Amino acid sequence: MALAAEAKRIAAEFDYSTEEVGKGVKEFIREMDEGLEKQGATMSQIPSYVTAVPNGTEKGIYLAVDLGGTNFRVCSIVLHGNQTFSLTQSKVAVPHALMEAKKAHELFEFLAKQIEIFLKTHHNDKFEAHRRRPSQQQYLDLGFTFSFPVNQLGINKGKLIRWTKGFDIEEAIGQDVCALLQKEIDALNLPVIVAALVNDTVGTLMARSYTSPGKTGTLIGAIFGTGTNGAYVEKLNRVKKMAQIDAELGSAAYDKSTGLMIINTEWGSFDNNLSVLPDTPYDRALDAESVNPGIQMFEKRVSGMFLGEILRRAILALYKHQDENIALFKDTSSADNDTSSLTTVAEDSPLYKQWGIDTSFLSIVEEDASDRLRITKQTLEKDLGVSAPSMEDCVAVKTLVHAIGKRAARLAAVALGAVVLSTNKLQEDDLVDIGVDGSLVEYYPGFEDYIREAFREIPEIGVEGEKKIRIGLAKDGSGLGAALIALTASKAEERGEF
Ligand code: GLC
Repeated sequence: MALAAEAKRIAAEFDYSTEEVGKGVKEFIREMDEGLEKQGATMSQIPSYVTAVPNGTEKGIYLAVDLGGTNFRVCSIVLHGNQTFSLTQSKVAVPHALMEAKKAHELFEFLAKQIEIFLKTHHNDKFEAHRRRPSQQQYLDLGFTFSFPVNQLGINKGKLIRWTKGFDIEEAIGQDVCALLQKEIDALNLPVIVAALVNDTVGTLMARSYTSPGKTGTLIGAIFGTGTNGAYVEKLNRVKKMAQIDAELGSAAYDKSTGLMIINTEWGSFDNNLSVLPDTPYDRALDAESVNPGIQMFEKRVSGMFLGEILRRAILALYKHQDENIALFKDTSSADNDTSSLTTVAEDSPLYKQWGIDTSFLSIVEEDASDRLRITKQTLEKDLGVSAPSMEDCVAVKTLVHAIGKRAARLAAVALGAVVLSTNKLQEDDLVDIGVDGSLVEYYPGFEDYIREAFREIPEIGVEGEKKIRIGLAKDGSGLGAALIALTASKAEERGEF
């Protein structure tokens, strides 16, 4: 019992009350406005140069690549023009050494090589034809989904502001990532043009709009995966800093006729100075030992890469509890322990390693409704090298998991709710559509339910407003989205615009 009570005490540190949700929304809207007004604000509010959402009639074949987390994906997409598409893709894990490479060239060379392998495997005709006789016709337009904060200077141009999610290649900061990729593509003599630079959230928004266009279109594309971020459709005249950007780039840099601009919020950096975000000793320790302390403070409380690490630190605290009668994994004789053997933690357990716990661990434990938490027990054994954990141990771990996951979902509601309110869409339309992607929303049980519960607690949304908000999965949407943006970009170029 003592262990259960202590686990509950730690779990309570992750409570995020209705009042705090309300305060969070207010501050979020304030930071959104600030980001629209000036460059260099905490929340970057980056103009994407995408000024319209698709309607499902777009057609053609495009390449898309996606760098943004654990994997690098290459795909080709055929848009059929009737809201449907077919997609061929390959995926490879990004070697850890490249995430922290000395030279940017090492990472981008790896990416170009993957594109070459993909072309040889799936589009060998184009590849060979180009080898024999290079011609403009063989070139494929590529949408580059690069999911890090980039100061976008045009549809296929943008300078890296900072790395997130564990990437750390200093030399790349300030460089145009499209040019870096194009250079390596050209070095391999591939028939590929980097036509568009896309954040995964913008891609998700486009993909969702293509596949489910309603009368009002999609408002938000959001990622709750390794990292978290959102993009939304903003009225161009609300983007006050556009005047300054126009003066720097020349006002012909994008199409103004729609009166809209899709904004990449980079909400991972919401409230970096912790004026309203919840904070526990586990959050603080995680941040202090991360590659970017003091940055991405919202993301560090919400997204997959970090939830496992928060949990690891909470579990470790409970395991190291001075009082052996309270501590985790110390059971020797409990009747609950059906193996009646000693509980031990392996010396090389991932519990001792930074980032040792994956988000999938949280999803599995949260979902576990098995008899005597059998699945949690097996997962503790398999993933964390804990042998013979007791039933009490399993319950305690589940209590912690639930608290950390629920707080993340309620924080996600702050971001989504604030964007919905700041755009006034609940007033203007009957339905507000949100496209989401990422391992957390896809696999963490109840993530959307907790978001909805928090929506109802926000007075300006309430029970009625919550019903008008539709949330739909746009799985792997960023590939499709990047293709759609490459299409828009190449059409504009053909017309001689920009
Ligand atoms: C991080 C990146 C952001 C991206 C998000 C989701 O927050 O900074 O650009 O959209 O992760 O992948």
